Amino acid sequence: MALKITMLNGSPRPRGVMARILEVFTEGLKSAGEVEVETLLASRLGVASCMHCDSCIKTGVCVIKDDAQNVFEKMMDSDLMVVGSPVYFAGVPGACKSLIDRAQVEWNRRYVRKEKIPVRAKRALMLSSCGSKKANMSDGIALTLFYFFDALGVRFNRETDSITFHRKETPSDVTAEDAARIRAFGRDAVSALLFITGGRETKE
Ligand SMILES: Cc1cc2nc3c(=O)[nH]c(=O)nc-3n(C[C@H](O)[C@H](O)[C@H](O)COP(=O)(O)O)c2cc1C
Repeated sequence: MALKITMLNGSPRPRGVMARILEVFTEGLKSAGEVEVETLLASRLGVASCMHCDSCIKTGVCVIKDDAQNVFEKMMDSDLMVVGSPVYFAGVPGACKSLIDRAQVEWNRRYVRKEKIPVRAKRALMLSSCGSKKANMSDGIALTLFYFFDALGVRFNRETDSITFHRKETPSDVTAEDAARIRAFGRDAVSALLFITGGRETKE
């Protein structure tokens, strides 16, 4: 059976740097085994911001009726969840942050209501891109995603489970050398997952 992989692109640009990175990353995923990849664009989801009404503490359900909870369920029901995002003022872009904040319902279900939530996902990965060459530019995103993935029940190691690309303003800034790193990141993720899920043979 194919591995299910759900990717969220945090960029508002459907054909921007991150779209290119995730396209190459998908090639890497596919080179290692049978995968079923779905990519969601945060800015197209139209998810509203959390209002901190605290209803989810009492009910375990969000009062806002949009796609946020479907996205979380989809991510938790994947073998691998991925967030790819550009850096905006050291964080994720607004639409992506709105979605992340809505995971408060999952945090409350897990840690306040102590619900037993089934999670298929075994791993979470982050890919980020930024304009600057500063080494720490994606640290803010990585910390945000650490707690987001934690709310969804998946451990995320900021050192080993993330990859960042600096000085990227347009998709053409993604070089052949970058592409080789991105492909390897995807290929290795699927190989590791196949090993964890029963050691099925990889294509290479
Ligand atoms: C509103 C805005 C804020 C940004 N903030 C940062 C920043 O804090 N640090 C940085 O290095 N690049 C910053 N950038 C540059 C983007 O992170 C970079 O160009 C990214 O690779 C664009 O990816 P995309 O085309 O997928 O959206 C910013 C760009 C915009 C439009």
